[in-house]
Amino acid sequence: MLHAAKSGAGSELCVGVIGVGVMGSNHARVLAEMPGVRLAGVVDPDRKQAHFVGTTLGCPALSTVEELLDRDVDAVSIAAPTHLHRPIALACIARGVHVLVEKPIASSVAEGEDIIHAARSAGLTLMIGHVERFNPAVQAIAEAIRNEDILSIAITRVGPFPPRMSNVGVVIDLAVHDIDLICWFTRSQIVEVQPQLSNAVAEREDIALLQFRTASGVLAHINTNWLTPFKARTVHVATKRKYVIGDLLTRQVTECYGFQPDGSYSMRHLSVGHAEPLRAELTAFVKAIRDRSPPPVTGEDGVASLAIAIQCLDGRSDAAPAPGHKPASSPKPRPAPRRAQPAIAKS
Ligand SMILES: NC(=O)c1ccc[n+]([C@@H]2O[C@H](COP(=O)([O-])OP(=O)(O)OC[C@H]3O[C@@H](n4cnc5c(N)ncnc54)[C@H](O)[C@@H]3O)[C@@H](O)[C@H]2O)c1
Repeated sequence: MLHAAKSGAGSELCVGVIGVGVMGSNHARVLAEMPGVRLAGVVDPDRKQAHFVGTTLGCPALSTVEELLDRDVDAVSIAAPTHLHRPIALACIARGVHVLVEKPIASSVAEGEDIIHAARSAGLTLMIGHVERFNPAVQAIAEAIRNEDILSIAITRVGPFPPRMSNVGVVIDLAVHDIDLICWFTRSQIVEVQPQLSNAVAEREDIALLQFRTASGVLAHINTNWLTPFKARTVHVATKRKYVIGDLLTRQVTECYGFQPDGSYSMRHLSVGHAEPLRAELTAFVKAIRDRSPPPVTGEDGVASLAIAIQCLDGRSDAAPAPGHKPASSPKPRPAPRRAQPAIAKS
């Protein structure tokens, strides 16, 4: 049975979090502190983790989605493993509950489209957790290039192997953030993809050099890997009149402008906010529900970036093995998977 959509307008919005591992525990922390929101409960089949998060934040710790839905929640944040996004989202939507689904929207485009279709038919808010859009440095870059004629975008997102290896490689785990940023910055779609991938150490791709062309004619490049000993996240955007450089970790954004025929130019640091990206993302989700307005990151945005990421992976059989590359049958030992210490820290 499909239940009527709830708006929570004018009253406290009851929100639950489904899956309280690394990402979901942060969703729960932020929601527990958000004015006008009541954290109605957290769900995780890992009882110890659910109990830890529930007692830390003072909300019920539940082990099934049904138990949460029986508490008459208005909305949920879904931060369970990606392969569960579709069944969990559909179960929530069928009960008239608005959903924020962590990125990537689902494991396949078809699954993502099922979620979009269900939310649209039920008249419910569906937002995807592309949290990087809410990074103040990204927002300063977006503002700096808003009325500019963008020529190229180069994004670097590199670092060491994550402490817990999931079953996806760098394209789905990391590059999907930047594919979304490229589409968002250019307000266009990616129409050409040239991927170079390699699994130098892990079973799945751990290096990716991805080149794109958008429908608007922008050339874009993503350099991502798990082989760099330190984390780096940078965005460079060339426009006809400016060159904008952003460091997403230090949140320093600089623009070069006023290019002169003699090669000289001016530089200035742009003002960058301090907001926690996840807080801004969840605030936008709650606002979209209350205002009954489209969320800033739609289901269609989530499917578009997943589709391009999958297209990059489909091209991997053409990729030449990197020097020193070991065939998949004899991989180098990969870092032992391990679960992160339960913690509810600022993301
Ligand atoms: N936006 C980002 O920057 C970002 C960063 C990390 C992860 N993510 C996404 O968040 C999601 C979770 O990733 P994570 O790193 O937090 O993983 P995680 O393994 O730390 O947490 C997932 C949690 O879901 C729980 N779970 C498993 N089955 C469940 C079920 N049926 N119902 C409810 N909970 C269930 C697990 O027990 C675990 O505690 C993934 O989709 C991932 O892609 C997004």
